[in-house]
Amino acid sequence: MNNCFIITDILSKLMQAAMEHAFPGQLNTFTATVTETANPEFGDYQCNDAMSLAKLLKKKPRDVASELLNALPENAVISKTDIAGPGFINLTLSPDWLVGKLDAISSSVKLGVPDVGEGKTIVIDYSSPNVAKPMHIGHIRSTIIGNSIDKMHRYLGYKVVSDNHLGDWGTQFGIIIMGYRHFVDKQALQDSPVEELERVYVASYKKTEDDEEWKNQCRKELVKLQAGDPENLRLWKEFVDISMREFERIYNRLGVSFDLVRGESYYNPKLKGVVEELKGKGIAKESEGAMVVFLEEEKLPVCIVRKSDEGFNYATTDIATIESRVGEFSPAKIIYVTDERQQLHFKQIFAICRRIGVNVPLDHVWFGLMRLPEGTFSTRQGNVIKLESLLDEAVSRAKELARQSSPDTSEEQLNEVAKVVGIGAVKYADLSQNPQTTITFTWDKAMALNGNSGPYLQYAYARIASVIDKYRDNYPDKDLEKYPINLTERIERDLAIRLIRFPDIVIRAAHSYKPSMIADYLFDLAQTYSSFYQNVPFLKAEEGVRESRVRLCALVSKVLKKGLDLLGIGTLDRI
Ligand code: ARG
Repeated sequence: MNNCFIITDILSKLMQAAMEHAFPGQLNTFTATVTETANPEFGDYQCNDAMSLAKLLKKKPRDVASELLNALPENAVISKTDIAGPGFINLTLSPDWLVGKLDAISSSVKLGVPDVGEGKTIVIDYSSPNVAKPMHIGHIRSTIIGNSIDKMHRYLGYKVVSDNHLGDWGTQFGIIIMGYRHFVDKQALQDSPVEELERVYVASYKKTEDDEEWKNQCRKELVKLQAGDPENLRLWKEFVDISMREFERIYNRLGVSFDLVRGESYYNPKLKGVVEELKGKGIAKESEGAMVVFLEEEKLPVCIVRKSDEGFNYATTDIATIESRVGEFSPAKIIYVTDERQQLHFKQIFAICRRIGVNVPLDHVWFGLMRLPEGTFSTRQGNVIKLESLLDEAVSRAKELARQSSPDTSEEQLNEVAKVVGIGAVKYADLSQNPQTTITFTWDKAMALNGNSGPYLQYAYARIASVIDKYRDNYPDKDLEKYPINLTERIERDLAIRLIRFPDIVIRAAHSYKPSMIADYLFDLAQTYSSFYQNVPFLKAEEGVRESRVRLCALVSKVLKKGLDLLGIGTLDRI
């Protein structure tokens, strides 16, 4: 594994060596940590370990800090150190070393991002809407966030198995089958199939609430389906196909695809075995006719794995799914992306799986609510059609934006731009936020050309591309790579420091499941670039300086493009 691009690692190792040298045999398991400084006044990186080490060693933090610095091994990386406040150690990178890293990154195919995931498989379960039930904004968020986590891991060299765990099995089908038999409007089914299925589902569901007989019938139809009744299976298949076609339309627009679309039904044959296993191992017990797992030890409520009517449920399916994935893929971890309402569910099934002996890390990535603009969704949770209208509106707003910024563009080109910018705006509005808070989507923010938005970054990218084009037009024969990068101005150094942080950021964002880290990084990079571009002469600078600056510029453009790609957002050279 090539870690020479993970700057925090390189610096941590140096600090670690200093620690071991300064305090031999006294560190126990203490390991050094170095992080980026937010404020460049305090150097480029900082190490705050002196404070906690001081406690361990019963010394003064500032003394510990200065002993550490005295013991720092001879190296070409750090050119300046100082101690601030109670004992913060500030580290400044050597200019030559920095330039060397920039050179290495610009000639690296993956911009220095190492294959930390090589040889490891991970499974990501995301999107996962329910057949014939409304696809709500939560599923869209799961699709967007999940896809970015998926892409980041692939880029890090993991073998990723993405699985769209469709809700295509379960109690709703008895209800839909009854609804379909009694209420379906064939014409409506042809014109807008998913809406009609939803309507039928809702009508039948309402009837179950005050009509016991109807409810029983629904249950019977479900049992028939689960027993393999050919007619019910045929209907079920039709419902799945109808829904899948609609989902596919959304996935195409979002540029998302999956390795597997197994759905809950795939695991149906395994459910009985799972419950038997749980019973055999003494994990599940009979209680009031049902099979349940008590999770008092984990301080969680009881989890039903087989209902008193012999039916299995969502939890049983998920346990079977985990066993199946572990057996088939031997993953290094399994990741689930859903809205916050499923936290308890995953805590329960993860706890049960641990009792069975599954030791693969299982992570639930959850996100909060997203409030949409007034009127986008009615009181009901909304459906695919309404979600599509959100995307339509984004695209038409992006088209207006593009028309204003370049009025001479052809209609065809405007449409192309609008697609990339509109979808990018929706994705970025989602991904740039901390997912675990309630966020409010507003068009002004999502489309802001001068704020932290997808369009801002896409336009920044296109402007850089045009600077590079202009350079190429003016100096067609120059071999840029032959010119060294020189960081003479402060702003050039600021830009360089950010560029070499890209590998660190990607690794951290992927492993903490936070696409927002990439978004924050890209926004900061684009802003730094913009003050670089405004404050130093560029194409008009003298030879050498000019080439150095164009090289920096080219690297910014590569990093922006790749960073946006990791968020699932496209770029255009011309807008
Ligand atoms: N279909 C579920 C829902 O819409 C989400 C499934 C998430 N994945 C899982 N393996 N449980 O609520």
